[in-house]
Amino acid sequence: YEVQWDADAADKGGWSSFMAKEINDQPDAVENTVRGRVSERGVEIPELTALGDERLAGIDRVIIIACGTAAYAGQVGAYAIEQWARVPVDVQLSHEFRYRDPVLSERTMVISVSQSGETMDTLMAVKYALERGVTTVSVCNTQSATIPRESDAAVYTHAGPEVAVASTKAFVAQITALYLIGLHLGRVRGTLSAEDQARAVEQFETLPAKVREAVDTHDQIAQLAHWMADSRSVLFLGRHVGFPIALEGALKLKEIAYIHAEGFAAGELKHGPIALIDHGQPVFVLVPSPRTSPLMHSKVVSNIQEIRARGARVIAIVEVGDTAVLPFADDVIRLPLADPFFEPLLQVIPLQWFALELSTAKGLDVDQPRNLAKSVTVE
Ligand code: AGP
Repeated sequence: YEVQWDADAADKGGWSSFMAKEINDQPDAVENTVRGRVSERGVEIPELTALGDERLAGIDRVIIIACGTAAYAGQVGAYAIEQWARVPVDVQLSHEFRYRDPVLSERTMVISVSQSGETMDTLMAVKYALERGVTTVSVCNTQSATIPRESDAAVYTHAGPEVAVASTKAFVAQITALYLIGLHLGRVRGTLSAEDQARAVEQFETLPAKVREAVDTHDQIAQLAHWMADSRSVLFLGRHVGFPIALEGALKLKEIAYIHAEGFAAGELKHGPIALIDHGQPVFVLVPSPRTSPLMHSKVVSNIQEIRARGARVIAIVEVGDTAVLPFADDVIRLPLADPFFEPLLQVIPLQWFALELSTAKGLDVDQPRNLAKSVTVE
Protein backbone atom coordinates (compact mmCIF):
# COMPACT_ATOMS: atom_id res chain seq x y z
CA TYR A 1 0.00 0.00 0.00
CA GLU A 2 1.45 3.33 -1.03
CA VAL A 3 0.26 6.63 0.39
CA GLN A 4 -0.35 9.15 -2.39
CA TRP A 5 1.13 12.45 -1.27
CA ASP A 6 0.95 15.54 -3.36
CA ALA A 7 3.38 18.17 -2.07
CA ASP A 8 1.74 20.92 -4.10
CA ALA A 9 -1.74 20.21 -2.70
CA ALA A 10 -0.30 19.97 0.82
CA ASP A 11 1.30 23.40 0.48
CA LYS A 12 -2.04 24.80 -0.56
CA GLY A 13 -3.65 23.33 2.55
CA GLY A 14 -6.19 21.49 0.41
CA TRP A 15 -7.26 24.64 -1.45
CA SER A 16 -7.42 24.73 -5.25
CA SER A 17 -4.88 27.55 -5.45
CA PHE A 18 -2.43 29.45 -3.27
CA MET A 19 -4.57 32.53 -3.72
CA ALA A 20 -7.64 30.73 -2.31
CA LYS A 21 -5.57 29.55 0.65
CA GLU A 22 -4.17 33.01 1.22
CA ILE A 23 -7.61 34.66 1.14
CA ASN A 24 -8.66 32.13 3.75
CA ASP A 25 -5.55 32.88 5.83
CA GLN A 26 -6.58 36.51 6.35
CA PRO A 27 -8.07 36.26 9.85
CA ASP A 28 -4.69 34.93 11.03
CA ALA A 29 -2.78 37.52 9.02
CA VAL A 30 -4.45 40.40 10.86
CA GLU A 31 -4.33 38.69 14.25
CA ASN A 32 -0.63 37.87 13.94
CA THR A 33 0.20 41.40 12.79
CA VAL A 34 -1.51 42.93 15.84
CA ARG A 35 -0.08 40.42 18.35
CA GLY A 36 2.42 41.86 20.81
CA ARG A 37 1.79 45.43 19.69
CA VAL A 38 -1.27 46.23 21.77
CA SER A 39 -1.13 46.60 25.55
CA GLU A 40 -2.96 48.44 28.31
CA ARG A 41 -1.00 51.57 27.31
CA GLY A 42 -2.59 51.29 23.89
CA VAL A 43 -0.64 50.51 20.73
CA GLU A 44 3.10 50.25 21.13
CA ILE A 45 5.41 49.05 18.39
CA PRO A 46 8.83 48.32 19.91
CA GLU A 47 10.61 49.04 16.61
CA LEU A 48 9.17 52.57 16.59
CA THR A 49 9.87 53.10 20.29
CA ALA A 50 13.53 52.36 19.45
CA LEU A 51 13.58 55.44 17.18
CA GLY A 52 12.89 57.66 20.22
CA ASP A 53 9.68 59.45 21.11
CA GLU A 54 11.22 62.87 20.54
CA ARG A 55 12.06 62.02 16.95
CA LEU A 56 8.54 60.70 16.31
CA ALA A 57 6.91 63.71 18.00
CA GLY A 58 8.92 66.03 15.73
CA ILE A 59 7.77 64.48 12.44
CA ASP A 60 5.92 67.11 10.40
CA ARG A 61 5.18 65.12 7.25
CA VAL A 62 4.72 61.47 6.32
CA ILE A 63 5.16 60.12 2.79
CA ILE A 64 4.10 56.56 2.07
CA ILE A 65 5.86 54.98 -0.91
CA ALA A 66 4.89 51.70 -2.54
CA CYS A 67 3.74 50.10 -5.79
CA GLY A 68 0.57 48.29 -6.88
CA THR A 69 -1.49 46.69 -4.15
CA ALA A 70 0.96 47.89 -1.49
CA ALA A 71 0.33 51.47 -2.66
CA TYR A 72 -3.42 50.96 -2.24
CA ALA A 73 -2.79 49.70 1.29
CA GLY A 74 -0.76 52.90 1.72
CA GLN A 75 -3.71 54.99 0.54
CA VAL A 76 -6.02 53.36 3.07
CA GLY A 77 -3.42 53.76 5.83
CA ALA A 78 -2.87 57.42 4.97
CA TYR A 79 -6.43 58.37 5.96
CA ALA A 80 -5.98 56.78 9.38
CA ILE A 81 -2.45 58.04 10.12
CA GLU A 82 -3.48 61.59 9.24
CA GLN A 83 -6.57 61.30 11.43
CA TRP A 84 -4.90 59.75 14.45
CA ALA A 85 -1.46 61.40 14.39
CA ARG A 86 -2.60 64.77 12.95
CA VAL A 87 0.29 64.91 10.53
CA PRO A 88 -0.06 65.45 6.76
CA VAL A 89 0.33 62.16 4.88
CA ASP A 90 0.93 61.77 1.12
CA VAL A 91 1.07 58.55 -0.81
CA GLN A 92 3.42 58.36 -3.78
CA LEU A 93 4.22 55.55 -6.15
CA SER A 94 7.84 54.58 -5.50
CA HIS A 95 8.84 55.00 -9.15
CA GLU A 96 7.43 58.53 -9.26
CA PHE A 97 8.78 59.67 -5.90
CA ARG A 98 12.38 60.59 -6.64
CA TYR A 99 11.75 62.03 -10.10
CA ARG A 100 9.64 64.84 -8.69
CA ASP A 101 12.47 66.20 -6.54
CA PRO A 102 10.33 65.88 -3.39
CA VAL A 103 10.53 68.38 -0.55
CA LEU A 104 12.12 66.38 2.29
CA SER A 105 13.65 67.30 5.61
CA GLU A 106 14.93 65.69 8.80
CA ARG A 107 11.38 65.95 10.08
CA THR A 108 9.95 63.88 7.22
CA MET A 109 9.09 60.22 7.76
CA VAL A 110 9.02 57.97 4.70
CA ILE A 111 7.08 54.74 5.23
CA SER A 112 7.70 52.15 2.52
CA VAL A 113 5.22 49.32 2.09
CA SER A 114 6.31 46.12 0.37
CA GLN A 115 5.27 42.49 0.75
CA SER A 116 8.51 41.14 -0.69
CA GLY A 117 10.85 43.83 0.59
CA GLU A 118 12.74 43.47 -2.69
CA THR A 119 10.74 45.62 -5.12
CA MET A 120 13.46 47.59 -6.89
CA ASP A 121 11.37 50.75 -7.43
CA THR A 122 10.62 50.92 -3.71
CA LEU A 123 14.17 50.06 -2.67
CA MET A 124 15.59 52.87 -4.83
CA ALA A 125 13.06 55.30 -3.38
CA VAL A 126 14.03 54.29 0.17
CA LYS A 127 17.72 54.80 -0.64
CA TYR A 128 16.94 58.21 -2.11
CA ALA A 129 15.11 59.15 1.11
CA LEU A 130 17.92 57.82 3.33
CA GLU A 131 20.48 59.92 1.47
CA ARG A 132 18.41 63.00 2.33
CA GLY A 133 18.37 62.25 6.05
CA VAL A 134 14.69 61.43 6.46
CA THR A 135 13.44 58.76 8.89
CA THR A 136 12.60 55.61 6.96
CA VAL A 137 10.22 52.96 8.25
CA SER A 138 9.63 49.75 6.31
CA VAL A 139 6.34 47.85 6.44
CA CYS A 140 7.34 44.46 5.07
CA ASN A 141 6.18 40.84 5.09
CA THR A 142 9.55 39.19 4.46
CA GLN A 143 11.99 38.93 7.34
CA SER A 144 15.44 40.37 6.59
CA ALA A 145 14.59 41.42 3.05
CA THR A 146 16.65 44.25 1.57
CA ILE A 147 14.21 47.14 2.18
CA PRO A 148 13.69 46.52 5.93
CA ARG A 149 17.44 45.97 6.35
CA GLU A 150 18.21 49.33 4.72
CA SER A 151 15.54 51.24 6.68
CA ASP A 152 15.81 52.95 10.09
CA ALA A 153 13.01 50.76 11.45
CA ALA A 154 11.11 47.70 10.23
CA VAL A 155 7.51 47.01 11.21
CA TYR A 156 6.89 43.49 9.93
CA THR A 157 3.51 42.27 8.84
CA HIS A 158 3.03 38.69 9.95
CA ALA A 159 0.85 37.41 7.14
CA GLY A 160 3.07 34.38 6.51
CA PRO A 161 4.56 33.56 3.10
CA GLU A 162 2.47 34.79 0.19
CA VAL A 163 2.94 32.68 -2.94
CA ALA A 164 0.18 33.75 -5.36
CA VAL A 165 1.22 36.65 -7.58
CA ALA A 166 -2.00 38.48 -6.68
CA SER A 167 -1.51 39.88 -3.22
CA THR A 168 -4.32 39.30 -0.72
CA LYS A 169 -3.35 38.53 2.86
CA ALA A 170 -0.31 40.80 2.68
CA PHE A 171 -2.66 43.66 1.75
CA VAL A 172 -4.86 43.34 4.84
CA ALA A 173 -1.76 42.90 7.00
CA GLN A 174 -0.22 46.05 5.48
CA ILE A 175 -3.31 48.11 6.29
CA THR A 176 -3.28 46.67 9.81
CA ALA A 177 0.40 47.58 10.29
CA LEU A 178 -0.15 51.12 8.97
CA TYR A 179 -3.05 51.57 11.40
CA LEU A 180 -0.83 50.39 14.25
CA ILE A 181 1.80 52.92 13.18
CA GLY A 182 -0.87 55.65 13.11
CA LEU A 183 -2.03 54.73 16.60
CA HIS A 184 1.54 54.57 17.93
CA LEU A 185 2.31 58.01 16.45
CA GLY A 186 -0.97 59.39 17.76
CA ARG A 187 -0.13 58.22 21.30
CA VAL A 188 3.42 59.57 21.25
CA ARG A 189 2.37 62.88 19.72
CA GLY A 190 -0.57 63.29 22.13
CA THR A 191 -3.06 63.68 19.29
CA LEU A 192 -5.15 60.63 20.09
CA SER A 193 -7.62 60.55 22.98
CA ALA A 194 -7.49 57.57 25.34
CA GLU A 195 -11.05 56.88 24.23
CA ASP A 196 -10.13 56.68 20.54
CA GLN A 197 -7.10 54.53 21.36
CA ALA A 198 -9.30 52.13 23.37
CA ARG A 199 -11.91 52.08 20.62
CA ALA A 200 -9.32 51.12 18.00
CA VAL A 201 -7.85 48.42 20.25
CA GLU A 202 -11.33 46.98 20.69
CA GLN A 203 -11.80 46.98 16.89
CA PHE A 204 -8.55 45.06 16.47
CA GLU A 205 -9.70 42.47 19.01
CA THR A 206 -12.91 41.71 17.14
CA LEU A 207 -11.37 42.01 13.66
CA PRO A 208 -10.23 38.40 13.02
CA ALA A 209 -13.75 37.03 13.58
CA LYS A 210 -15.22 39.67 11.25
CA VAL A 211 -12.60 38.94 8.61
CA ARG A 212 -13.64 35.28 8.86
CA GLU A 213 -17.25 36.28 8.18
CA ALA A 214 -16.10 38.26 5.15
CA VAL A 215 -14.18 35.20 3.90
CA ASP A 216 -17.43 33.28 4.25
CA THR A 217 -19.02 35.39 1.48
CA HIS A 218 -17.25 33.03 -0.92
CA ASP A 219 -20.28 30.98 -2.01
CA GLN A 220 -22.39 34.03 -2.75
CA ILE A 221 -19.55 35.58 -4.77
CA ALA A 222 -18.95 32.33 -6.65
CA GLN A 223 -22.56 32.38 -7.85
CA LEU A 224 -22.26 36.00 -8.89
CA ALA A 225 -19.05 35.31 -10.79
CA HIS A 226 -20.73 32.44 -12.58
CA TRP A 227 -23.16 34.66 -14.49
CA MET A 228 -20.53 37.39 -14.94
CA ALA A 229 -17.87 35.20 -16.53
CA ASP A 230 -18.38 36.88 -19.92
CA SER A 231 -18.09 40.44 -18.61
CA ARG A 232 -15.76 42.59 -20.68
CA SER A 233 -15.50 45.45 -18.21
CA VAL A 234 -16.26 45.85 -14.51
CA LEU A 235 -16.29 49.11 -12.55
CA PHE A 236 -15.75 49.67 -8.82
CA LEU A 237 -16.85 52.70 -6.80
CA GLY A 238 -15.82 53.72 -3.31
CA ARG A 239 -15.57 56.81 -1.15
CA HIS A 240 -12.97 57.76 1.51
CA VAL A 241 -11.19 54.51 2.55
CA GLY A 242 -13.48 52.68 0.14
CA PHE A 243 -11.81 54.47 -2.79
CA PRO A 244 -8.48 52.61 -2.62
CA ILE A 245 -10.47 49.39 -2.11
CA ALA A 246 -12.25 50.11 -5.41
CA LEU A 247 -8.81 50.53 -7.05
CA GLU A 248 -7.62 47.27 -5.49
CA GLY A 249 -10.74 45.37 -6.61
CA ALA A 250 -10.10 46.54 -10.16
CA LEU A 251 -6.40 45.64 -10.03
CA LYS A 252 -7.16 42.09 -8.83
CA LEU A 253 -9.53 41.56 -11.76
CA LYS A 254 -7.03 42.89 -14.31
CA GLU A 255 -4.21 40.80 -12.90
CA ILE A 256 -5.75 37.38 -12.74
CA ALA A 257 -8.92 37.47 -14.90
CA TYR A 258 -7.52 39.75 -17.66
CA ILE A 259 -10.70 41.81 -17.61
CA HIS A 260 -10.74 45.54 -18.10
CA ALA A 261 -11.64 47.06 -14.76
CA GLU A 262 -11.46 50.51 -13.23
CA GLY A 263 -11.93 51.86 -9.75
CA PHE A 264 -13.27 55.36 -9.11
CA ALA A 265 -13.89 57.67 -6.21
CA ALA A 266 -17.69 57.66 -6.12
CA GLY A 267 -17.78 61.48 -6.04
CA GLU A 268 -15.83 61.56 -9.29
CA LEU A 269 -18.58 59.76 -11.20
CA LYS A 270 -20.33 62.92 -12.37
CA HIS A 271 -17.00 64.39 -13.53
CA GLY A 272 -16.69 61.89 -16.36
CA PRO A 273 -16.91 58.17 -15.64
CA ILE A 274 -20.73 58.12 -15.57
CA ALA A 275 -20.55 58.34 -19.37
CA LEU A 276 -19.30 54.74 -19.31
CA ILE A 277 -22.52 53.48 -17.75
CA ASP A 278 -24.62 51.60 -20.22
CA HIS A 279 -27.21 48.87 -20.03
CA GLY A 280 -25.88 45.87 -18.09
CA GLN A 281 -22.55 47.46 -17.05
CA PRO A 282 -21.54 45.71 -13.81
CA VAL A 283 -20.58 48.12 -11.03
CA PHE A 284 -19.46 47.09 -7.56
CA VAL A 285 -20.22 49.79 -5.01
CA LEU A 286 -18.60 49.89 -1.58
CA VAL A 287 -21.20 51.45 0.67
CA PRO A 288 -20.05 53.15 3.91
CA SER A 289 -22.00 52.48 7.09
CA PRO A 290 -25.23 54.46 7.57
CA ARG A 291 -24.67 54.29 11.37
CA THR A 292 -21.21 55.81 11.53
CA SER A 293 -20.99 57.73 8.23
CA PRO A 294 -24.57 58.83 7.45
CA LEU A 295 -23.52 61.67 5.10
CA MET A 296 -21.15 59.55 3.02
CA HIS A 297 -23.71 56.76 3.02
CA SER A 298 -26.43 58.99 1.58
CA LYS A 299 -24.05 60.29 -1.12
CA VAL A 300 -23.11 56.77 -2.17
CA VAL A 301 -26.75 55.68 -2.23
CA SER A 302 -27.44 58.64 -4.58
CA ASN A 303 -24.56 57.46 -6.78
CA ILE A 304 -26.16 54.02 -6.89
CA GLN A 305 -29.49 55.56 -7.93
CA GLU A 306 -27.76 57.56 -10.70
CA ILE A 307 -26.00 54.58 -12.24
CA ARG A 308 -28.97 52.28 -11.81
CA ALA A 309 -31.16 54.78 -13.68
CA ARG A 310 -28.68 54.47 -16.57
CA GLY A 311 -28.90 50.70 -16.68
CA ALA A 312 -25.95 49.60 -14.52
CA ARG A 313 -26.04 46.23 -12.84
CA VAL A 314 -25.26 47.19 -9.23
CA ILE A 315 -23.53 44.89 -6.79
CA ALA A 316 -23.63 46.67 -3.43
CA ILE A 317 -21.29 45.74 -0.61
CA VAL A 318 -22.95 46.95 2.58
CA GLU A 319 -22.90 46.43 6.31
CA VAL A 320 -25.47 44.02 7.61
CA GLY A 321 -28.77 45.77 8.33
CA ASP A 322 -28.36 48.48 5.68
CA THR A 323 -31.64 48.31 3.78
CA ALA A 324 -31.38 51.68 2.01
CA VAL A 325 -29.73 50.17 -1.05
CA LEU A 326 -32.14 47.28 -1.47
CA PRO A 327 -34.50 48.99 -3.94
CA PHE A 328 -31.59 49.95 -6.23
CA ALA A 329 -29.14 47.05 -6.07
CA ASP A 330 -29.25 43.86 -8.14
CA ASP A 331 -27.06 42.02 -5.67
CA VAL A 332 -26.25 42.82 -2.05
CA ILE A 333 -23.25 41.44 -0.19
CA ARG A 334 -23.47 41.91 3.56
CA LEU A 335 -20.51 42.34 5.87
CA PRO A 336 -20.30 42.58 9.69
CA LEU A 337 -20.49 45.97 11.45
CA ALA A 338 -17.16 47.72 11.90
CA ASP A 339 -15.89 51.23 12.57
CA PRO A 340 -15.17 53.23 9.38
CA PHE A 341 -11.41 52.57 9.28
CA PHE A 342 -12.02 48.85 9.69
CA GLU A 343 -14.57 48.52 6.87
CA PRO A 344 -11.96 48.27 4.07
CA LEU A 345 -10.35 45.25 5.71
CA LEU A 346 -13.66 43.44 5.21
CA GLN A 347 -14.81 45.00 1.91
CA VAL A 348 -11.76 43.90 -0.03
CA ILE A 349 -12.38 40.20 0.64
CA PRO A 350 -15.44 39.66 -1.60
CA LEU A 351 -13.55 41.52 -4.34
CA GLN A 352 -10.60 39.13 -3.98
CA TRP A 353 -12.96 36.15 -4.25
CA PHE A 354 -14.65 37.70 -7.26
CA ALA A 355 -11.37 38.02 -9.18
CA LEU A 356 -10.40 34.48 -8.22
CA GLU A 357 -13.74 33.01 -9.29
CA LEU A 358 -13.75 34.88 -12.59
CA SER A 359 -10.20 33.76 -13.32
CA THR A 360 -11.19 30.17 -12.52
CA ALA A 361 -14.34 30.40 -14.67
CA LYS A 362 -12.15 31.51 -17.59
CA GLY A 363 -9.83 28.55 -17.06
CA LEU A 364 -6.84 30.75 -16.22
CA ASP A 365 -3.91 30.11 -13.90
CA VAL A 366 -5.03 31.93 -10.75
CA ASP A 367 -1.64 31.88 -9.06
CA GLN A 368 0.63 32.62 -12.02
CA PRO A 369 -1.00 35.19 -14.29
CA ARG A 370 0.65 35.95 -17.61
CA ASN A 371 3.38 38.59 -17.83
CA LEU A 372 3.65 39.07 -14.06
CA ALA A 373 6.21 38.10 -11.41
CA LYS A 374 5.64 37.91 -7.67
CA SER A 375 8.46 40.29 -6.98
CA VAL A 376 9.52 42.99 -9.43
CA THR A 377 13.27 43.31 -8.94
CA VAL A 378 14.01 45.56 -11.90
CA GLU A 379 13.25 49.25 -12.19
C1 AGP B 1 -0.46 42.71 -6.27
O1 AGP B 1 -1.50 41.85 -6.53
C2 AGP B 1 0.56 42.80 -7.33
N1 AGP B 1 1.10 41.56 -7.72
C3 AGP B 1 1.55 43.96 -7.26
O2 AGP B 1 0.81 45.13 -7.50
C4 AGP B 1 2.39 44.13 -5.97
O3 AGP B 1 1.56 44.50 -4.92
C5 AGP B 1 3.49 45.17 -6.22
O4 AGP B 1 4.32 44.73 -7.26
C6 AGP B 1 4.29 45.48 -4.99
O5 AGP B 1 4.98 44.36 -4.52
P1 AGP B 1 5.67 44.37 -3.11
O6 AGP B 1 4.59 44.53 -2.10
O7 AGP B 1 6.37 43.07 -2.99
O8 AGP B 1 6.61 45.55 -3.08
